[in-house]
Amino acid sequence: MANIFTRTADGMMNWVNERAPAMMPVYRKHMTEYYAPKNFNIWYIFGVLSIVVLVNQILTGIFLTMHFKPSAAEAFSSVEYIMRDVEWGWLIRYMHSTGASLFFIVVYIHMFRGLMYGSYRKPRELVWILGMLIYLVLMAEAFMGYVLPWGQMSFWGAKVIISLFGAIPYIGSSLTEWIMGDYLPSDATLNRFFALHVIAMPLVLLLLVVLHIGALHEVGSNNPDGVEIKKGPKGNRWDALKPADGIPFHPYYTVKDFFYVCGFLILAAFIIFYAPAFKGWFLEHDNFTEANRLVTPEHIKPVWYYTPYYAMLRVVPHKLSGVLVMFAAIAILFLVPWLDRSKVHSHRYRGWLTKVMLALLAVCFVWLGKIGAGPGTDPTETWIGRGLTVLYFLFFLTMPIWTSIDKTKPVPERVTTHD
Ligand code: HEM
Repeated sequence: MANIFTRTADGMMNWVNERAPAMMPVYRKHMTEYYAPKNFNIWYIFGVLSIVVLVNQILTGIFLTMHFKPSAAEAFSSVEYIMRDVEWGWLIRYMHSTGASLFFIVVYIHMFRGLMYGSYRKPRELVWILGMLIYLVLMAEAFMGYVLPWGQMSFWGAKVIISLFGAIPYIGSSLTEWIMGDYLPSDATLNRFFALHVIAMPLVLLLLVVLHIGALHEVGSNNPDGVEIKKGPKGNRWDALKPADGIPFHPYYTVKDFFYVCGFLILAAFIIFYAPAFKGWFLEHDNFTEANRLVTPEHIKPVWYYTPYYAMLRVVPHKLSGVLVMFAAIAILFLVPWLDRSKVHSHRYRGWLTKVMLALLAVCFVWLGKIGAGPGTDPTETWIGRGLTVLYFLFFLTMPIWTSIDKTKPVPERVTTHD
């Protein structure tokens, strides 16, 4: 049986090979002959999980588009129709809406892994920059998607966020009007956001992901030790030309990833079936009411993945400065590869200072997220938010100092496999 299967597979490969000889080398380069370090740990699964969620978003998005009506008059009721009348529509919709939050959870962990192991350091700066571009496009994509169901938070969220452009001197108000295609979020806004959300942004996202992985495969993956993998001889690999510290991505990591992907899908299914709105964190309660330009929701706030930046915007008293601080908070992440001056890559071989700073950054970001999700009326919280914003920027601005004074331990010659 197995024999028939291998013979058929080989036959098909040969058939393709004769007609498109350039395809096989691409497959080999990225799969069977891509040597990934053999010491990857669980933090290294989140890149693959990002691909899984991206595929989920695209597939469920296609089915949603079949029933969704991109007009201000019909959008809300078409989503209700999907939820109640379309067969399995509720599942498709929740897989998409909960999927958006899962996307950000996975991507935030993926980025933090990069910070822990110094994956942005030379020669992987381009991988990081492409990752950051993905992050920007992802934020725009999710924002436009949230406007589409035309609920209260879709409308008012869009109004608040697009109005931020109004703070730009001279061109602000014309720019806001140009983006919306009207004086308020309206049918025109919904139409263009639909076009961008279903076609333009996903195409850009896909292209960037291909470039991101392509750039990574040019230089090879980093790993928890932060040292480059070396060629043989070591262990049981006899071929001196192949990296003995690495193993072919396929079948070794495809099998391992498959196991983790199954675990992730089980967890995702639990959330999608039992808590798709996640107590208002993934789908806000106000968005279950149709958009009404005459009734402002009590607290207008974005979805959780934007709230750290939204908190920074809100705690700065001057509107334009707030907008600049918010954009600077994202822009500064692009510079990380040049701000880190440590002699070693991974936090494993750095001192306590790096560990404390990384932990502080995580606490700062989560705490700011909590403040941004709140009503923003408590003055003490506003002051805490200001302190946290300063800390957030200090992490990056003082990075050249603390990374160079932090004590480092000698890095191993070859990657280590004990964890
Ligand atoms: C759609 C979103 C994304 C997808 C599908 C994606 C996919 C991947 C994959 C498959 C890998 C290789 C496996 C791994 O190392 O985990 C990877 C590596 C990497 N990604 Fe992403 N990524 C995404 C977003 C980002 C973002 C937002 C950043 C940071 C700004 C980023 C930075 C990196 C870095 C630095 C590496 C190299 C890691 C290493 O070798 O240690 N990625 N990405």
